[in-house]
Amino acid sequence: MSYSLSFPGTIIFGAGERRKLAELLPAGPVLFVAGRHSASRIQSEIVPALGGRSFELIADISPEPPLADVERALAAARRIGAASVVGWGGGSAMDTAKSVAALLPLPGPVADYFYNRREIPGHGVFLAEVPTTAGTGAEITPNAVLLDPETGIKQSLRGTGLYADLALVDPELTYDCPPAVTAASGFDALTQAIESFISRKANPVSKTLAMQAAKNILSSLHPAWSGEIQARNFVAEGSMMAAMAFSSSGLGAVHGIGHPLGSILHVPHGVCCAVLLPTILKWNLEAAHDDLEDLALALTQDPDPANLIELITELRSWLELPADFKAYGLAPEHYDFIVRNCRSGSMKCNPRDLSDDDVRRILEELS
Ligand SMILES: [Fe+2]
Repeated sequence: MSYSLSFPGTIIFGAGERRKLAELLPAGPVLFVAGRHSASRIQSEIVPALGGRSFELIADISPEPPLADVERALAAARRIGAASVVGWGGGSAMDTAKSVAALLPLPGPVADYFYNRREIPGHGVFLAEVPTTAGTGAEITPNAVLLDPETGIKQSLRGTGLYADLALVDPELTYDCPPAVTAASGFDALTQAIESFISRKANPVSKTLAMQAAKNILSSLHPAWSGEIQARNFVAEGSMMAAMAFSSSGLGAVHGIGHPLGSILHVPHGVCCAVLLPTILKWNLEAAHDDLEDLALALTQDPDPANLIELITELRSWLELPADFKAYGLAPEHYDFIVRNCRSGSMKCNPRDLSDDDVRRILEELS
């Protein structure tokens, strides 16, 4: 078997490690793209350590960053002549920062790259990513999920040029994350770990990382949600490892179906994962039986995958996450859009082929 692995230039994990950020940035102006709640921490903890560097801080990026927000951040980076871009926040801030760093030296509007009319030929300016939620893994992966509100299309800029130079994962930044966000982003990370483990493109390295990630998250997500510090550290580390795993293995049908479903019904990505994961695992039971047995044994000391799926379903209800998409209004009129737009790379990694009718049946079950 052959496979290739790529990660950010440097990955740093540990409580308090964010304080090293300023010394790890190159000389020259810095553009910070931050989540709404992170601006004051950047101002108080990082700015004083910037030395002579000038900076600009943008902290009003919309969730699921629209192309216009990326254009605005890109214009700010050009205006200050940014030598580095720092994404500090959840997936939206990190994905925007990733896009800005990669596109800074390139001509044309963001839409050209979003619609693949132009390619991202290589790396842009220095990019540091600092996550404040434990879930997306956006600090590790070479893609940025953006939205064109005019067409409703949500897809990724993708390419090795989007890898961060520095991924700085400081679990202290997740300590004040609200329970609902902890639950949803944690389920995203758990899904990413499990889908990576059973992916058709899994390799020995991704499987090792995915299993450890799933162990961390399954055992610690509930206490992390209740605010337990050590559990939050484990979930943050699990989220990082899950992303390191799926960046080479790909994901599966939860992500394949979850993306169009989330974009048409405005369901937060982690909530999509939580609703879909047990159902899709049941569909995958036969095709991925051996892998799921290994996973169940490692995670619960019980090799029966059905019991593992049951435990994940219980965890979902402990975390007060929904069991279906009723509250979001999923109805038959949405099925065609979801079926048409779910055939991504993730779907190809799923251990079982799902026909359009299979996808419809899954959606019916959850409507
Ligand atoms: Fe995800």
